Amino acid sequence: MSRVLYESNGHICLAFTDLVDDAHGDAVQSNQFLVVDHGHAALIDPGGQMTYSELYMTISRYFPPKQLDYVMASHADPDIVASVGRWLTASESRVLISEVWARFLPHFCQVGKTSGRIVPIPDSGLIVPLGKSSLMAIPAHFLHSEGNFQFYDPVSKILFSGDLGASMTTGSEADGVVTDFDTHAVRMLGFHRRYMSGNRACRLWAAMARTLDIARIVPQHGPSFHGREMVARFIGWVEQLQCGLDLLEPSHYRVPTQVMG
Ligand SMILES: [Fe+2]
Ligand SMILES: [Fe+2]
Repeated sequence: MSRVLYESNGHICLAFTDLVDDAHGDAVQSNQFLVVDHGHAALIDPGGQMTYSELYMTISRYFPPKQLDYVMASHADPDIVASVGRWLTASESRVLISEVWARFLPHFCQVGKTSGRIVPIPDSGLIVPLGKSSLMAIPAHFLHSEGNFQFYDPVSKILFSGDLGASMTTGSEADGVVTDFDTHAVRMLGFHRRYMSGNRACRLWAAMARTLDIARIVPQHGPSFHGREMVARFIGWVEQLQCGLDLLEPSHYRVPTQVMG
């Protein structure tokens, strides 16, 4: 199933929230996104093997997958981009990923498949032309991956935030928006404390995010933050977050005594 997040004037943003959810056993629910502008398209965080076939069929209703311009990966995790080899086979698209991960990406593909088709995103980010518009690769390093980008669409004013803002939910919940921030923050906390690197990155990201005109923040797992007030609450929450290295203690580094069952 797909949801239209934005549609106006030859520009459309789509979310796919239920291609991987509870029905897929051990796999974490994840969202995938397609941005189309005047006959050109970018697939954002397309996921792994589980999503490929259904995503291919679903996006065909909106755009011919063979003509994809870009696959854009926020980072190199399997739930983000393990299907990249299949997308490269099925289309002429190029793949955008942090320069930190560009030489690791071919490990998801057959030999030679990525040749000349990877665009390494420099640490400082990149403006990527798409149709009559462009998408921006926004630095979000260490939130959570060492080389990590979010994708901002200045037309819809949507920030596709990758794992930042993620919550572990079902596909139907992920299709919605956050209505009670405080209740939702409790559900985000465990993931962010473990998967985000530290408050220094959180504060630097928050300062940058406030300079963008954001109408909606859409993470790769769980529901999105819709409207200026929710966006501001989310940015404020990230800014004060203690996570990752902030929380480490000597007790986390002890030689194990537990035997595998
Ligand atoms: Fe990740
Ligand atoms: Fe993820």
